[in-house]
Amino acid sequence: MTVTVRVPAKVNVQLAVGAARADGFHDLANVFLAVGLYDEITVTPADTLRVTCAGPDADKVPLDRTNLAARAALALAERYGRAPDVHIHIAKDIPVAGGMAGGSADGAGALLACDALWGTRASRDELLDICAELGSDVPFSLVGGAALGTGRGEKLTALDVGGTFHWVFAFAQRGLSTPAVFREFDRLGEDTDIPEPVASQPLIDALAKGDPDALAATVTNDLQPAALSLFPELADTLAAGRAAGALAALVSGSGPTTAFLTRDADSATQVAAALHASGTCRSVRTATGPAQGATVG
Ligand code: C5P
Repeated sequence: MTVTVRVPAKVNVQLAVGAARADGFHDLANVFLAVGLYDEITVTPADTLRVTCAGPDADKVPLDRTNLAARAALALAERYGRAPDVHIHIAKDIPVAGGMAGGSADGAGALLACDALWGTRASRDELLDICAELGSDVPFSLVGGAALGTGRGEKLTALDVGGTFHWVFAFAQRGLSTPAVFREFDRLGEDTDIPEPVASQPLIDALAKGDPDALAATVTNDLQPAALSLFPELADTLAAGRAAGALAALVSGSGPTTAFLTRDADSATQVAAALHASGTCRSVRTATGPAQGATVG
């Protein structure tokens, strides 16, 4: 028997970041939107836990037990007192270390796939608990759609989305480490008073209306200065997308993927072509959001 689960990437339309907490994490007001770029996780019974990966970024994916998909299988197996003997194959389309929750997608996908394969029938709340243990963004990868994440991003409140948003994503030549970007955020803010992160009501209203102009006017990412500080060339990619007519241009999460909101599908195609021609990124993709969360297929 084999189970395959498809899991979407995310873009953060708001990422408000508070000061570092005692545990090193940061409190967030994190508005996630799932978008239609997917990793596919397939699990098959095996003699021992094993991870394989295929896709353009496959050589950058760890195949040992640090992989979030392996950790998800281990966590579920431990909870149900069974052996984690499964072959996990990741068909990877989400960029690695890109700020689009690709690793989190693989964790959520492997968890749901193993639950189906093993018949453990964990409740939704149990699955969400395991996801939160695996990482701050993993619960959102399970639920998809749009949601506000508070705490370190793992406490989710679903949000309404009243339409389809058209995005272009520019993948960068190299990755950025999320902890390094948060450290740079701390360094840049060293002598400043960092306010408590608060969700933007105008942004939540723009999502609910499905209004791209209103959303473009309200998107923010507090990690963007830190990502640009570590990867200054991203400013050229952002400028190229703006010049091509994107309504908004921002770094996705901790980066270095850059995200461009456009008015419609035609405009997305134009912005994508211009970004490709600009030579400021490795590759360019279009995708719409919201997308469904992890789904057994
Ligand atoms: O939760 P996750 O393991 O995905 O987080 C990766 C790293 O990102 C953490 O080790 C931490 O350095 C940083 N982080 C943070 N505050 C958050 C989420 C992540 O500082 N709310």
